[in-house]
Amino acid sequence: MRRILVAGNWKMNANQAMVSSLLSDIVAGSPDKVDVAVFPPAVYLSQAIAALQNTSIAVGGQNINANVSGAYTGEIAANMLVDIGCSMALVGHSERRTLFGETDQDVLAKVQAALAAQLTPVICIGETLEEREQGTTEQVIANQVNAVLEGLSSDQLAKCVWAYEPVWAIGTGKTATPDQAQQVHQFVRQLLAAKDAEVAQKVRILYGGSVNPQSAADLFAQADIDGGLVGGASLKAEQFLAICNSVNE
Ligand code: PGA
Repeated sequence: MRRILVAGNWKMNANQAMVSSLLSDIVAGSPDKVDVAVFPPAVYLSQAIAALQNTSIAVGGQNINANVSGAYTGEIAANMLVDIGCSMALVGHSERRTLFGETDQDVLAKVQAALAAQLTPVICIGETLEEREQGTTEQVIANQVNAVLEGLSSDQLAKCVWAYEPVWAIGTGKTATPDQAQQVHQFVRQLLAAKDAEVAQKVRILYGGSVNPQSAADLFAQADIDGGLVGGASLKAEQFLAICNSVNE
């Protein structure tokens, strides 16, 4: 049985006061029936980790560099996140892919760096609107997933979380329908199963893209949707908690 994971991707938002109030509300209101994680901007990670001490809420970075250390000005290594108390990292978010030119090869290198540091990578994949309209969604997804799978053992795959985030649904208010999302999630699980059928049943695949309190319940009820990667709605405690609470026990 896969436990639902609701993860908040704060992107480049928040300040110290907001970190403090948002997290105290989340601590007070998050239900035991789901796993919860937050991904604040790097400068607020330590503050978030301190605020979430003695809770089961995980903290993760939004990005890592694939190298262990060295002359990479402005970058952060996976082992540094672990050092301060993070347990997860987003890898290959579509904003990183489009705005910062991350390739599938970069994504694989970062996934391997995360795993080497004992950090759970949340590997983001998804097609653009153009790709969906051209009917190439499955091809695009297969390329993104297989580029990572080729470099992983079954044991490593078991330690990953995936997030399907159709690019056209991110920050647009346009959520994929539960059926649309389920179709791709099932396809992703088939791709994972080609590597290891048993592990594929245990790996969580989150949906992301304008998840809100209204859409969450139907999405999370789908057979292959194991939670959400929530952007905009994760910045408001009330909305984020409503999403966490929309999970059926
Ligand atoms: P959104 O972002 O919920 O604001 O669409 C999701 C994400 O980019 O992870």
